[in-house]
Amino acid sequence: MILTRPTIPNSPYPVFTHEARQNPHPLYKQMRREMPVAPILGPQSGFVFWVLTRYDDCTAALKHPQLGRDHLRLPEDLANKFGGKPTGVWAAINRHMLNLDPPDHTRLRGLVHKAFTPALIETMRSRTQFVADSLIARIQARGDQHFDLIDDYGFPLPITVIAELLGVPVSDQDDFRRWTKTLVFGTDETEMATAAFEFVMYINNLIEEKLARPQPDLLTNLLQAEEAGDKLDREELLSMIFLLLVAGHETTVNLIGNGMLALFNHPDQRAKLQAHPDLIRTAVEEMLRYEGPVDQAMWRIAMDSVSIAGVEIPQGDVVTISLYAGNRDPEVFENPDTFDITRDPNKHLGFGSGIHYCLGSPLARMEGAIAINTLLARLPQVQLVPGMNDRLEWSDSTLLRGLKSLEVMY
Ligand code: HEM
Repeated sequence: MILTRPTIPNSPYPVFTHEARQNPHPLYKQMRREMPVAPILGPQSGFVFWVLTRYDDCTAALKHPQLGRDHLRLPEDLANKFGGKPTGVWAAINRHMLNLDPPDHTRLRGLVHKAFTPALIETMRSRTQFVADSLIARIQARGDQHFDLIDDYGFPLPITVIAELLGVPVSDQDDFRRWTKTLVFGTDETEMATAAFEFVMYINNLIEEKLARPQPDLLTNLLQAEEAGDKLDREELLSMIFLLLVAGHETTVNLIGNGMLALFNHPDQRAKLQAHPDLIRTAVEEMLRYEGPVDQAMWRIAMDSVSIAGVEIPQGDVVTISLYAGNRDPEVFENPDTFDITRDPNKHLGFGSGIHYCLGSPLARMEGAIAINTLLARLPQVQLVPGMNDRLEWSDSTLLRGLKSLEVMY
């Protein structure tokens, strides 16, 4: 799974550069006005990326049956452009639902849907509260009244929850954090191959353990899940676990980090939420819209030539859908650059749309709400350290938008 994109300098709209990653909103606003379906040539990859910035175009593209994820559906010469058929350890990591189209996608999603029961998520509510309380207690015990909201709170909370849910020993979380980070953000091929190999070996051993001693967890459920007589094969299972682990923690950390940053920078909204914690439901939706964890959806490939807003996109070209740009489209959202925790309705694209709509959205909403309300209730004076806003460093990923650190005091 290649999640990072090449840097494309010298394009009229430098969306993939480090500078744009630090604040993509002004550029997206300009593109939405000037060229809402903008072709950008990737000099390193040679791909053409068609970047979409209007809400309606983004939604239409996410639902378009000819804009798919699985390049193996293309004629061979075009599929080879995307690296052809993955082999070896990559096959064991890439065959997950977010990389596939129907009917494989439908089958895999159906299987995990069965295992990911509402009852299982409900049991995680009290666990999530417990994890949030324990992390705050640990921060308070340090006594220096200063901490990193990402490393000390936003990151450990969802990784602990997804590890417990899956049945992956929490004590091994440093290892799988390292592997998933290398695989999602890495650029060195040898390092990535080593991480993939170690990850696959680790999960394979875990599967053997669960087969011998089934537990009330998602991994055991997945081993037992069956859809119309169909079970997950080993590669599909490994890929599924990889996807759930990555999607389950690399995103929610940014909901907590970006969401808290928005509150710090909008004291009136923060005061409102602290006075009325039950506003958390609409507040979380607004955080997902205003500065959510995902900027661009995974790229889509034109399986045939397709037309978007009257623009012909040739077969084999890549379509880049900016959820960020769609979420600030003034045609859909009144005062889109205003952060309003009571905004309702709020049909944001933070969890995507169409067949790949985020499977973990109920879990993510629950975690975000508990994390933010617990932090504000337990450390009501929490605020940014002086000068933090001038030192913010955002990740260079075009997919995941999050802060490297967020230093606060209380
Ligand atoms: C606030 C946190 C989260 C956000 C903003 C988020 C966002 C997204 C988005 C935008 C997509 C669609 C990507 C695309 O179409 O290219 C997606 C898909 C997915 N997400 Fe999430 N996600 C979050 C948390 C989670 C969690 C906690 C889990 C799992 C436990 C999860 C599991 C998944 C899965 C499995 C898919 C693929 C679904 C499919 O292909 O049918 N996500 N997510």
